[in-house]
Amino acid sequence: MEQFNWWVIVPVFAALIALRWRRTSMLTWFAAWWIGMFLVVRYGFTVPVPMSVVKLYMGLVTAALVAYVLTDAGRIREVTEPLAAFMTERRYLPYLAAVALFIPAAVAFGIYRDMTRVPQPPSFARTIHPATPAEPIDVHGTSYDLGTADNPYRELEETDPAAFKARVENGRKIYYENCFYCHGDVMAGDGMFAHALNPIPTNFQDPGTIAMLREAFLFWRIAKGGPGLPAEGGPWASAMPAWENFLSEDEMWNVILFLYEFTGHRPRAVELH
Ligand code: HEC
Repeated sequence: MEQFNWWVIVPVFAALIALRWRRTSMLTWFAAWWIGMFLVVRYGFTVPVPMSVVKLYMGLVTAALVAYVLTDAGRIREVTEPLAAFMTERRYLPYLAAVALFIPAAVAFGIYRDMTRVPQPPSFARTIHPATPAEPIDVHGTSYDLGTADNPYRELEETDPAAFKARVENGRKIYYENCFYCHGDVMAGDGMFAHALNPIPTNFQDPGTIAMLREAFLFWRIAKGGPGLPAEGGPWASAMPAWENFLSEDEMWNVILFLYEFTGHRPRAVELH
């Protein structure tokens, strides 16, 4: 029962029940129910209810209250007469003027507040990378200690540029067969599936991603994907597949070479302690 904020719900319903016993005007009753339902939907739950859902419910509440009033000529009169009086009788003129000024002022304030709000990165932004598992990971029967593991083909860049290039080309093929649907054709994280995903696929062009990471980190993330993310710091809710189910170790190391080659970033080196 801790999903309800009883300190909101109990007073609201107590007030509505109290109104039931006092003969209040239909207009007061209408307003009281409307405000009461708003308070319950907006603040009655411990999880924050998104404003779009609140608006949807308030639309239903408004329709139900209007339907109730419209079913009876007496109720219609009880609601419209005070409103008509408010808008036409001289003695209410200052209040009417105040309402006429308040509405545009409230809209202006809302716009001002939205325009001056400091943009916040979405809470699922992939700027923070989880720590790699301390235990060695197992990929296709090989055990990798992520603290010391490195791309076995990186050294070819110096020792055998032709062989290195062949591996990069193989990585390119793997990328465009498997990864670009999500990570995009220029690796900007905007592939055709990207918009359906939250968190969105990592933008490898962003210097805050692979340029800050070691190749072993990428190997771990590619092999184990979203399912392999640690429980701490979650929920990650990542759609990144565990590629060890589809690619060989060689293919994963090669696609990593291609990610760096294509973006022009350099991997972070292994830190020697
Ligand atoms: C179904 C969509 C999808 C496909 C296909 C996909 N990824 Fe991902 N990938 C993601 C999402 C979403 C993330 C961000 C969430 C996360 O880190 O798990 C991500 C994250 C990553 C990361 C982590 C980067 C970082 O900064 O932590 C790497 C590396 C990566 N993907 C590589 C690949 C490679 C290589 C392939 C192809 C073999 C691939 N991805 C295919 C969705 C996908």
